Amino acid sequence: MEASTSHDAEENSAAFYAPLLDHREALATRGKPVNGFAVISASVIFLLSLVTLIFNQSQEPLPTPNKGPSPSPTSKPASFSKALPRGVAEGVSSKSNPSLLDEVSFNWTNAMFAWQRTAYHFQPEKNWMNDPDGPLYHKGWYHLFYQYNPDSAIWGNITWGHAVSRDLIHWLYLPLAMVPDRWYDINGVWTGSATLLLDGQIVVLYTGSTNESVQVQNLAYPANLSDPLLIDWLKYPGNPVIVHPTGIEYDEFRDPTTAWLAPDGTWRITIGSRFNSTIGISLVYQTTNFTDYELLDGVLHAVPGTGMWECVDFYPVAINGSVGLDTSAFGPGIKHVLKASLDDTKVDHYALGTYDPVTDKWTPDNPKEDVGIGLKVDYGRYYASKTFFDQHKQRRVLWGWINETDSETDDLEKGWASVQTIPRTVLFDSKTGTRLLQWPVEEVESLRLNSTVFKEVLVEPGSVVPLDIGTATQLDILAEFDIESLVSNTTDEDSDCGDGAVDRSTFGPFGVLVIADDSLSELTPVYFRPVNTSDGSLKTYFCADETRSSKASDVLKEVYGGKVPVLDDENYKMRVLVDHSIVESFSQGGRTVITSRIYPTEAIYGAARVFLFNNATGVNVKATLEIWEVNSAFIRPYSFEETL
Ligand SMILES: *[C@@H]1O[C@H](CO)[C@@H](O)[C@H](O)[C@H]1NC(C)=O
Ligand SMILES: *[C@@H]1O[C@H](CO)[C@@H](O)[C@H](O)[C@H]1NC(C)=O
Ligand SMILES: *[C@@H]1O[C@H](CO)[C@@H](O)[C@H](O)[C@H]1NC(C)=O
Ligand SMILES: *[C@@H]1O[C@H](CO)[C@@H](O)[C@H](O)[C@H]1NC(C)=O
Ligand SMILES: *[C@@H]1O[C@H](CO)[C@@H](O)[C@H](O)[C@H]1NC(C)=O
Ligand SMILES: *[C@@H]1O[C@H](CO)[C@@H](O)[C@H](O)[C@H]1NC(C)=O
Ligand SMILES: *[C@@H]1O[C@H](CO)[C@@H](O)[C@H](O)[C@H]1NC(C)=O
Ligand SMILES: *[C@@H]1O[C@H](CO)[C@@H](O)[C@H](O)[C@H]1NC(C)=O
Ligand SMILES: *[C@@H]1O[C@H](CO)[C@@H](O)[C@H](O)[C@H]1NC(C)=O
Ligand SMILES: *[C@@H]1O[C@H](CO)[C@@H](O)[C@H](O)[C@H]1NC(C)=O
Ligand SMILES: *[C@@H]1O[C@H](CO)[C@@H](O)[C@H](O)[C@H]1NC(C)=O
Ligand SMILES: *[C@@H]1O[C@H](CO)[C@@H](O)[C@H](O)[C@H]1NC(C)=O
Repeated sequence: MEASTSHDAEENSAAFYAPLLDHREALATRGKPVNGFAVISASVIFLLSLVTLIFNQSQEPLPTPNKGPSPSPTSKPASFSKALPRGVAEGVSSKSNPSLLDEVSFNWTNAMFAWQRTAYHFQPEKNWMNDPDGPLYHKGWYHLFYQYNPDSAIWGNITWGHAVSRDLIHWLYLPLAMVPDRWYDINGVWTGSATLLLDGQIVVLYTGSTNESVQVQNLAYPANLSDPLLIDWLKYPGNPVIVHPTGIEYDEFRDPTTAWLAPDGTWRITIGSRFNSTIGISLVYQTTNFTDYELLDGVLHAVPGTGMWECVDFYPVAINGSVGLDTSAFGPGIKHVLKASLDDTKVDHYALGTYDPVTDKWTPDNPKEDVGIGLKVDYGRYYASKTFFDQHKQRRVLWGWINETDSETDDLEKGWASVQTIPRTVLFDSKTGTRLLQWPVEEVESLRLNSTVFKEVLVEPGSVVPLDIGTATQLDILAEFDIESLVSNTTDEDSDCGDGAVDRSTFGPFGVLVIADDSLSELTPVYFRPVNTSDGSLKTYFCADETRSSKASDVLKEVYGGKVPVLDDENYKMRVLVDHSIVESFSQGGRTVITSRIYPTEAIYGAARVFLFNNATGVNVKATLEIWEVNSAFIRPYSFEETL
């Protein structure tokens, strides 16, 4: 696919841009918006208020980010190369896989590489992809843009790739939407978000890396709104529209969010950054017309010890609702989710809280579970997630980037790197009141083929039960587990997910083994690990263990997982989407989610199987499952001759 047409942007933009500017008169303003460059003069006030804010927060002890399961010897990667990872020198977070120099490269065959490609997840035809960008729905089509290197399977030369779908599952690749061709984005058209304005116009704000590698925010918009495919994009001639304020590093200012309309009738966006080297923050800007922005006092939120915040996402959820909310929704019965991707740990964290649209501050419901120190969006291989409101189906849909954990050499050899997760609907979990629920969009069920039901299969302590469904490389598994305790008055130490599925305790682990071969020489356990601690609290961890997923030693294999609330009237429930080298696992309706990235060498093609297992010592498990075979999605280049 050839790079597109944004070259014509500056010639045509005035004409196409006019309607957008007309929109402003309807909107009242609060404060006096100033030109992006003039923002620097306002920064003294900004910094003063930031200092105050941080001061106010500092009574709390500095939290340590990354409360994941304690690393175990088996899950630790071998010593990786100490070379600076790709991307860091260019002022963006690390975008490379460790080259496992100390590990002997596995003798991969082309057949093994070919098998790793997913069948119903979105990935480009070839080359490198990272963050999802500007997802939106327009005239019958879902649009996904993504960070894309058209030249290679490693990070670099970043453009906006573009694909469209009627149903979020079957995709057509379109020409690149934007390429680095202006001084303000010549080093990369980086991550950004789309906003649908009230009059139907669409604006995109994205981070550009300038000719001097400075991170600036730029405005772009579709050339022809009547085109449902939004093929051509224009960059605003006055770009950049926002430059970093004083006190914020030139290379720590990126990934503007979707804008929301505040009750005063003006728009807000927020942009992640870092302050005083360790404090993760998100700045708030106000605008009426998307060309001129005012930095507001203070920050939306700050969390000491969490480092640079990337890809901030900020959106409302309905407390008792079953539908998603527009980004501008506000009022009683609504909470706001603040999500940040932590550059230091490469983990997406979120927290639920309350947004005050008058002060433009967000407060977490539970300060102990604040952004970056509490809940993770996904406990596995997952980063740079972004939601959008799907006005067509009244739902909020979440995308996330699954990066590779093999070596760059292998990625270059197979010719591609990275996958997007299955889009997930996001709702507030009204049963716990403390979490989000993430669930694969319903459209993925249209790919379900035949299924087999297994009822109340008894799995005794220490046993493995094969589930005879033939080839098991593309599956949708729904499973429920009831446990019957064989012991009384037993407690265990709380050791999170332990050292994986081999680490037996009284009440767990139990669950399924996916992408396993008959001899179990390779297997990926997805399991529950309940713990009855001596302090009387029963906790459950939901985990995925990659440590035996591949015989290759030059790939990263971790034990992932986190706590999941299992309420008194609930049994243990999981849904597992298996798609070749990607396993996405959802527990308790989506309270805790884990994405695994695996590279099996034996358990591939016809050799892949699925099993039940119970490695608890003190419980019998009864499992009831329905397992569907899943069809491949149709994902291909769009042909301009075809009529849709
Ligand atoms: C910045 O960090 C230094 C040392 O880490 C600390 O002494 C100083 O108080 C911090 N400043 C603010 C404004 O938090
Ligand atoms: C890969 O193949 C070569 C040649 O067949 C062999 O010498 C080497 O030991 C193999 N490496 C591994 C890790 O199996
Ligand atoms: C970026 O593009 C240039 C020119 O096409 C090419 O030489 C270079 O290899 C590319 N870099 C990467 C990392 O793909
Ligand atoms: C970057 O581009 C700007 C705007 O065209 C120009 O003023 C500046 O001199 C350029 N810097 C370099 C290092 O070329
Ligand atoms: C805009 O898109 C519509 C629908 O695809 C098309 O009919 C029209 O010719 C396009 N306008 C321009 C100026 O390209
Ligand atoms: C955008 O709004 C600001 C403040 O209302 C105004 O000063 C500026 O001229 C507007 N920009 C354009 C391009 O109309
Ligand atoms: C949500 O539902 C619960 C239980 O039905 C109710 O007590 C609560 O008031 C509702 N909250 C809102 C904000 O509607
Ligand atoms: C990508 O994968 C590697 C492991 O191979 C990991 O160390 C790195 O942090 C990941 N990057 C992101 C952005 O997730
Ligand atoms: C689907 O049907 C095929 C062919 O009859 C069978 O081999 C396979 O086990 C079935 N798969 C499931 C998940 O039921
Ligand atoms: C769980 O631990 C408590 C003590 O903390 C004990 O009373 C109870 O019997 C234990 N439950 C089981 C099933 O062992
Ligand atoms: C449970 O075990 C604890 C010590 O492990 C013991 O003190 C207690 O008496 C036991 N309770 C019962 C009901 O057996
Ligand atoms: C269960 O634990 C034992 C002992 O650590 C281990 O050998 C076995 O592989 C485990 N089973 C599974 C399915 O992981």
